[in-house]
Amino acid sequence: MKEKLQQIKTEVTDLLAKTNDLEGLEQLRIRFLGKKGELTAVLKGMGQLSAEERPVIGALANEVRSYLEQEIDSRKEELSAKMQEEKLKKEVIDVTMPGKKQELGKLHPLTQVLDEIKNIFVGLGFQIAEGPEVEYDYYNFEALNIPKNHPARDTQDTFYIEDNIVLRTQTSPMQVRVMEKQKPPIRILAPGRVYRSDAVDATHSPVFHQVEGLVVDKGVTMADLKGTLEAFIKELYGADAKVRFRPHHFPFTEPSAEMDVSCFVCGGEGCRVCKGEGWIEILGCGMVHPKVLANCGIDPEEYSGFAFGLGLERVVMRRYGIDDLRLFFENDLRFLGQF
Ligand code: PHE
Repeated sequence: MKEKLQQIKTEVTDLLAKTNDLEGLEQLRIRFLGKKGELTAVLKGMGQLSAEERPVIGALANEVRSYLEQEIDSRKEELSAKMQEEKLKKEVIDVTMPGKKQELGKLHPLTQVLDEIKNIFVGLGFQIAEGPEVEYDYYNFEALNIPKNHPARDTQDTFYIEDNIVLRTQTSPMQVRVMEKQKPPIRILAPGRVYRSDAVDATHSPVFHQVEGLVVDKGVTMADLKGTLEAFIKELYGADAKVRFRPHHFPFTEPSAEMDVSCFVCGGEGCRVCKGEGWIEILGCGMVHPKVLANCGIDPEEYSGFAFGLGLERVVMRRYGIDDLRLFFENDLRFLGQF
């Protein structure tokens, strides 16, 4: 028994040195000191010893037990300290390290200016309307007084999806869609993408944006058109901005006009941006053609209206002095980050 106790002692000493984690240590404790442990088994066998042997072996057994307990405990402390230290080492934060710069996202310049435009018109009592980019020939052309074979179709190089379905070449089909559904008074703004089969260069892109406006009510006149658009331009470009209207032709408005804004760079003196003219063309407009009203079930004898279509890219290019339209669509963060 004495030998057995000695053997346990050396074995535990050996094993302790090899145990490197708390889990293993606990298993070791159970194996020797647990209820069914090896040392416990020895202690239980003490009853069979003679009266002389018992105290000697008993003393030895106690000594071995407290030795084991002590050793296991101190190893446990050692291991926990070591683990704690490792954990701290892993979690250490170097407060002197330079931080990572977080890139902040931004709205696209087209979106920023469109938001401004929408806000101005919402302030004037307009509602925002949206419609499909894949459009029926009927809405894009026919209902707007542009029948088949009308020369105006040639100037808008149309992408055809099917015979009677196109990618809309303008936002004007929204005039028809709104008037079909809504009775006057109507005051809507319809921004969106439009498509024309143009080769890409500094001023052309097969996809660009227009903002359509439509007002229909009793007694609407050209004076309302001019007043509304002038108020809009002064909000957008400042109180000093001036506008002028030049006669023009659109099949769906009569009379029609194009509106120019005094160049916001030179204020009208003439410069590189306005190509020396002092004026910049930014939209087409006019009084809604009676035929268009009638096509939408609105009596042109009772109601009249005005409409306009603004090229968003132009407005933004001229606002910021951007000289190449392609920049809007390349998504170069060095460009986009400037706005
Ligand atoms: N749709 C015309 C264009 O694309 C612009 C316009 C809209 C003109 C509304 C008059 C009225 O050029």
